[in-house]
Formats: sequence, structure tokens, C-alpha cells
Amino acid sequence: MLRTHRCSELRLKNKGENVVLSGWVKKTRDLGGMTFIDLRDRYGITQLVFDMDQDENLCTKARKLGREYVIQVKGEVRERSNKNPNIPTGDIEISAKELSVLNESKTPPFTIEDETDGGEELRMKYRYLDLRRNINQRNIKLRHQLALEIRKYLSTNDFLEIETPYLIKSTPEGARDFVVPSRLHPGEFYALPQSPQTFKQLLMISGYDRYFQVVRCFRDEDFRADRQPEFTQIDCEMSFVERQDIFNIFEGMCKHIFKEIKNIDLPEVRLMSWDNALKYYGTDKPDIRFGMEFVELNDIAQNKGFKVFDSVELVVGINAKGCAGYSRKQLDKLTDFVKRPQIGAKGLVYVKYNDDGSFKSSVDKFFTRDDLKKWAERFNAKPGDLMLLLAGDKMHVRKQLSELRLEMGDQLNLRKRDEFAPLWIVDFPLLEWDEENERYHAMHHPFTAAHHEDTRLLEIEPEKARANAYDFVINGVEVGGGSIRIHDHDTQQKMFNALGFTKEEAEKQFGFLLKAFEYGAPPHGGIAFGFDRLVALFGGTDSIRDYIAFPKNNAGRDIMIDSPATITEMQLNELSLKVH
Ligand code: AMO
Repeated sequence: MLRTHRCSELRLKNKGENVVLSGWVKKTRDLGGMTFIDLRDRYGITQLVFDMDQDENLCTKARKLGREYVIQVKGEVRERSNKNPNIPTGDIEISAKELSVLNESKTPPFTIEDETDGGEELRMKYRYLDLRRNINQRNIKLRHQLALEIRKYLSTNDFLEIETPYLIKSTPEGARDFVVPSRLHPGEFYALPQSPQTFKQLLMISGYDRYFQVVRCFRDEDFRADRQPEFTQIDCEMSFVERQDIFNIFEGMCKHIFKEIKNIDLPEVRLMSWDNALKYYGTDKPDIRFGMEFVELNDIAQNKGFKVFDSVELVVGINAKGCAGYSRKQLDKLTDFVKRPQIGAKGLVYVKYNDDGSFKSSVDKFFTRDDLKKWAERFNAKPGDLMLLLAGDKMHVRKQLSELRLEMGDQLNLRKRDEFAPLWIVDFPLLEWDEENERYHAMHHPFTAAHHEDTRLLEIEPEKARANAYDFVINGVEVGGGSIRIHDHDTQQKMFNALGFTKEEAEKQFGFLLKAFEYGAPPHGGIAFGFDRLVALFGGTDSIRDYIAFPKNNAGRDIMIDSPATITEMQLNELSLKVH
């Protein structure tokens, strides 16, 4: 028997028992005639003691063990004289009687500790060692627990987990595809799915009614902290549903996982139109843990002689409550923040509403006290508040102010980690105009239905049609998105037309779906959650990489296995990819 117990298990009640433990040498300490070893496995740490007086050979052997050696120890559980209240096994230790080295280890390139000395690149290269660290073990376990609870919830609600293929066909919509050359069909390629979208719709036509899949998706996109080229979705689809049915089921799912995993009662899920999200928060994924909503000032701030405001599409600001005391230096820092190239504002206007009721602003030359008073009323500002304003074209200035709002939220500690504020964003435009290619793109995807009353707009004013689509946002993270789908052939054909597909192109790309719609497609809709993002949200950090066992680095490489990599001439030949 390689072990009788795990390294987290033994307590005072086991005192006197003879046990066998196996694990990794975390740390060795020699103190006079005694050697102490912290033995670690996935479950915890147990202290081993080797006593020179009792067995000199054994103690000498223990002293030679290096970090991360894999060992087995037989010994007796005894009470520690020097207890460690910080670990569950801190009251006991194992008085070692036998020691076997199960495997040696080279000295690891970084310490396997909570506060490691290894940089990110190094830890990625030795990811299997990094994964031994507590924090990663916790994250990977969290991921497992979440998947399990989601499966339980969906299964209880009659969803079937059904696998769909990974080798599919490239389509021009959405992000870039990863493609896989076919050996048997020279010059032809499979594509890896960006999502199982069309397959889950086909499953509805097949009558499966409620489908889900914890599924890997592949997108050849630029890297960000919340994006990986391969990531996991909780992909779901339902038949005979309207938007509200989808909301009920998936709000239920989110409530279930928050309760089971965090013991948190998730607050009511708010509903916000896409227009309002942009108008009041400058983004389609607002963090509504705090207010600080945008206030538009065009009518009272323009045409007063301040050129920066006069020539622009939008003058808009936020009220940073209680910040009138900000120093010159703090304000300069905020200005530098919005002027960073990633944000790109030209400058920042501030107005301090001082405690004595006076105003001090960066635009005192252009605006009277009465003007500023009017602004303050619009902002609902009180003495002690600080108003921060930006000006520019709508699209950019909203984005910039959104970043500033989040920064102020951080500075004022309004984005609490243990608080969760969910909302649905609805009424997205169905289409967006692509200037470069002079055509429309589906904002969600081409299978999304328009709102019932907007369907007729598809043929006349497609840009005015609103999508029956929804995103699920928590704390500023888009954790999921979906829509009610088109389920009849003719409307789907009209949608393809609006997207600039010729009949032949639509037939070539999506003929299988159009045909399937002719065989009794039920009304259906669905949603996909970004599972990695959901886990990261639960874990409390931004980077989804921390929750993926073997992630890619920020250049899309796996530096541990060294991928992507070249392939041999022979492989290239077989795949008919040889460049002559
Ligand atoms: P969408 O493209 O919005 O919808 O994707 C659904 C969710 O997947 C997550 N996500 C990602 N996570 C990590 N890395 C990425 N590169 C990445 N891209 C997306 C996001 C997003 O909300 N088929 C539709 C869903 C549907 O209509 O049912 C779809 O894929 O959290």
C-alpha cells in the first residue's frame, strides 16, 4: 500500500497509529539532531520527523532528500510539541520509521510556494510544476466544481449533454477560423468550430428540445486577458421558448451556482437596453456594482466659448462623489490616465464642488458660477463632489469615460470582490455596418431573429432592426450571450440577403441549415456562457489563463510543448501543402 492516508487527514485522534504517507518533499529543515520535512500532496501538508538519536541512517537519508522528491514514509502519528495552528494537520507529526524514495526530482526552476520566485514565462514553461502550487490547485478545483454544478442543474432541468463535431466547415462569419488540412481530400480543409451554433440548432430540429454541452471552441482572434484561442463554452439551446423562458432557466442556473459554490444569494437580474448601457455606462458590459452613471451636458455646456466642447458630438461626465478634495497631483494623474494611448482622450475637465458651495474647475475662464451650478444640478452633485468631463465623438468619448468610471470605481473601492451585480443587455442592433467592406455584419450571428415587430425592417431598413439577442453581464464581464433564432427558411434567406450573401453563397455556406428549416424547425433559442470567464469571476481575478490547466501565452503559444510548430516535409506532402 503506497499510502494509508492523505497528507491532510491526520489529527490528534490518530495519535499512536502507524501510518503510511506518500507525497512530495516541500521543505526540509535540519535542526540539531532532528530533520523535519513538510510532505505535500494535493490535499495538504503533513510534518515528518526524523530523529538522529533513534535512527542515524534514516535521518541521514532524509537529509539528502531534495525539494520535490517523491517519497513514501512509514511512521507513527504523535502530538507535536510545537503546534502550527495555520494548517489542519498542525497538531500532529509523523515520527518516521521507514523512508523510500519513489522518485528523485531535479531542483525545480522556481519554488512551489504561494509566493513563488518564478516569473510568468518560466511558470508557463513548467506548467506541470506551477500546477502543484496551492493557488492553481484551488483554481482547477473551482473549475471542476462549477462544471459539476452546472451539469447537475441543467440535467435536473431535462437538458441532455450532446457532443457535436470538432472537424467542421469554415464559414466567413465571426472571427477567423482555425483550419485543419484534410489528407484524404487534397486541397480541402476542415475548420475547428468557433461554437456549435448550427449544430445545436439542428439538434432542435431533431427534436432534442433542451441541449447543452461543455464544449471547447476555437477562434483565431487577437489575444486579451479574457480571451484564449481555445476556450470553453457552456453551450445551450431550447425549443418552444421565448426570451423570458431562456432568462428564467439561466438566471436559475446562475443562482444555483452562486448558492452552491459561494453561498451567495444572487441579486435580481436587471434588464438594460443596449442603447441605455452605452448612454449611461459607455459600454455594452457595464459594471453596475456602483452607479456613477454618465451625465450628458451638450445643452448646458456648449456655445459658451469653450472651443473644446463646442465642436464635438458629445460632452459627458461622471460625478465622483466625495472627491472634491482631490489634489492637483491626483487630478493630473487622472488626466494622464485618460490620455494614455490605450484610452486616447485629449484631456480631462474637472469641476470641484467645494464643501463651502464654491466651484473650482479647469474651465473657470469659460464658465460662470451659474453655469457650473447648472452642471452640478444635472449631475445631482453635492458640495464635496468632483465632476469629471470628457468631450468628443460619441463612440470614442463614451469608451474613454467608461474606462475613467471603472478607474474611479477602483479608486473609491466601489468594485467589491464579493459583490455580484448581474444584468441582461437586450435590444442590440441586429446588424452593424462594416465601413471597410461596405456591407452589414450580424452583430450577434446570422441566425439571430429580429424582434417580432422589427422583422419587416430586414428588407427596408435593416440597420433599424433590433435583434432578439441578449448578453449576460456580471461585474463588467460578458459571461454569456445568445438569442432567439430565426426558424424559418424564408426569414433566414432574407437575413443572408441583408448580409450581402448571394443566393448561391448562402446555399454553399449554409444550405444544410436552410434545407433543415424546411423539415419542421420548431421555434428555438439559446445562449452560450464563456465558462473560463465564469470561473475567473468566481475565482476573483481577471485573467482566464489562471483557470485553464494548460493555457496559451499572450502570443497564442504553448511554450511548454512548443506549439505551434513546423511539421515535416513528409507531413506537408501528405497534406498537399508543400510549397513548391
Ligand atoms: P458568443 O460569441 O457571444 O456567442 O460567445 C459566448 C460567450 O463565450 C465567451 N467567449 C470567450 N471566452 C474566452 N475566450 C474567447 N476567445 C471567447 N470568445 C467568446 C464569452 C461570450 O459571451 N453561438 C453563440 C451563442 C449563442 O447564440 O447561443 C456564441 O458563440 O463569455
